[in-house]
Amino acid sequence: MGDRWYSEAVVYCLDIDTYADSDGDGVGDIRGLIGRLDYLARLGVTCLWLHPIHPSPNRDDGYDATDFYNVDPRFGTLGDFAELLHQAQNRGIRVIIDLVVNHTSDEHPWFQSARSSPDSPYRDWFVWSDTEPADRHQGMVFPGEQDETWSYDRTAKAWFYHRFYKFQPDLNFANPKVRAEIKKIMSFWLQLGVAGFRMDAVPFIIELTEPGNPNSPKDFEFLTELRQHVQWRRGDAVLLAEANVEPDQLPTFFGDAGGSGNRIHMLFDFMLNGRLMLALARQDPESLIEGLRDTPKLPVGGQWATFLRNHDEIDLSRLTTEQRNQVYAQFGPDEDMRIYDRGIRRRLAPMLGNDRRRVELAYALQFSLRGTPVLRYGEEIGMGEDLSLPGREAIRTPMQWSYQPNAGFSTADPEKLVRPVIDKGDFGYQTVNVTAQRGDPKSLLAWFERMIRTLREAPEIGSGSTTHIDVPVPAGVLAHRADGPTGTMVFLHNLGTDDVEVDLSTLEKEADLPIDVLADRGYGELGKLGAVKLTGHGYRWIRLCRSQPF
Ligand code: GLC
Repeated sequence: MGDRWYSEAVVYCLDIDTYADSDGDGVGDIRGLIGRLDYLARLGVTCLWLHPIHPSPNRDDGYDATDFYNVDPRFGTLGDFAELLHQAQNRGIRVIIDLVVNHTSDEHPWFQSARSSPDSPYRDWFVWSDTEPADRHQGMVFPGEQDETWSYDRTAKAWFYHRFYKFQPDLNFANPKVRAEIKKIMSFWLQLGVAGFRMDAVPFIIELTEPGNPNSPKDFEFLTELRQHVQWRRGDAVLLAEANVEPDQLPTFFGDAGGSGNRIHMLFDFMLNGRLMLALARQDPESLIEGLRDTPKLPVGGQWATFLRNHDEIDLSRLTTEQRNQVYAQFGPDEDMRIYDRGIRRRLAPMLGNDRRRVELAYALQFSLRGTPVLRYGEEIGMGEDLSLPGREAIRTPMQWSYQPNAGFSTADPEKLVRPVIDKGDFGYQTVNVTAQRGDPKSLLAWFERMIRTLREAPEIGSGSTTHIDVPVPAGVLAHRADGPTGTMVFLHNLGTDDVEVDLSTLEKEADLPIDVLADRGYGELGKLGAVKLTGHGYRWIRLCRSQPF
């Protein structure tokens, strides 16, 4: 493993409340998660990203905190959390937590104090305007569910700014006290032993909001400050950020100090996510080839985080209207599957018609592309969504562990569960669960274990450079390669349905070890690279050469 552990990590994200309930109250908890660490270690996960863990009224699934220095009592205590960090470390798993400091809950004591009086010591911690700002109805993140970004607060007798829901007042980053507090929050959790943070809504935490100005200035230096602070406190801590902005703006988030990144270490690749969806919908890799070509060059230490699904909707806002409609037609044909005029609230397996071959192809492709793969809980067993639940809750149902009642997630009465378990149809827990797949070496779960083990033997994917192999290939096929100090891997993914043969003879002079290390089936001896067979929706990961003995 290279020095930068995050480049070769496999990140798995989960909500504690829907993962495993140890005390039968219907809500997942930290002790339940500790009991599942062996499962995660066996899967090959090396880093857990926990969605918000703080006390919260839960009006936005925890992304509305009332105390940044504690864990939600429904999940356990700080003691339980410290135990989780210890137990995870014993299994070689690092833990990062969501840092949601763009805003607080409106029930946070800081906001309660701030609104109570203009003389409150916390008044300036939030963003106020005495008059109605002209941009009141601009910049909403949740169109359809949110109609303004400035709301009048009767108690405060002033307007306050909220980039997200009205119950999430934005903190004022122009205030040095707020900046100092955020550093203190980070120090606290680093001191407890977290390996870093998934930073929520980063383009907004650097905004110096001016009432009436929808394009308020941004202070990127704040990110430099946070990076320095974190690195002094824990040298190997990582910042993984959500910054869903135009690609040409991304380099500024990584920062560049003489060629080395000095702000965020890792950014989620939202652009690639949209292009992956488009490529899968069209069964044509063209959008990915463009994506690989147009990727901004990263500074040293900068890394992409790739994903197919996360806890939010699939955000297609960076595609053109025509492209978005193509994805909708394939993956979100019903109005009910779509959300916020830009996305789809579904999991991957149902979008791909529960076709095992396509699910494998999609994940093999994601995990072979440059960057660090992030996997959402439940995807490894092919869970589905529950569209009868509101908004994004559709994809936040409890983990399906077994055939037992409530999918083995909890022993509580079903009506007490934090969210209903999927118990009907092709994705019901009676069909899709960990126990069933554990016993079946051909299951999707067994495949994920194998695929992740293979990935971890190919460090060039995470740490090397990835390029499109520009040779004539049959329609539907993507050929790409990853090169690093450890050697070279070549990947073929057939997004189309036809069986094909690919001519990779131009690579023959480099190939001292052309073997399949992962494929959708046994293709037999690889032999010459001039006619590599590939079935419809098939894939082959080929080790071309290895430059270090193993
Ligand atoms: C991020 C989270 C999302 C949340 C929002 C507000 O976009 O991913 O789930 O609703 O921030 O905190």
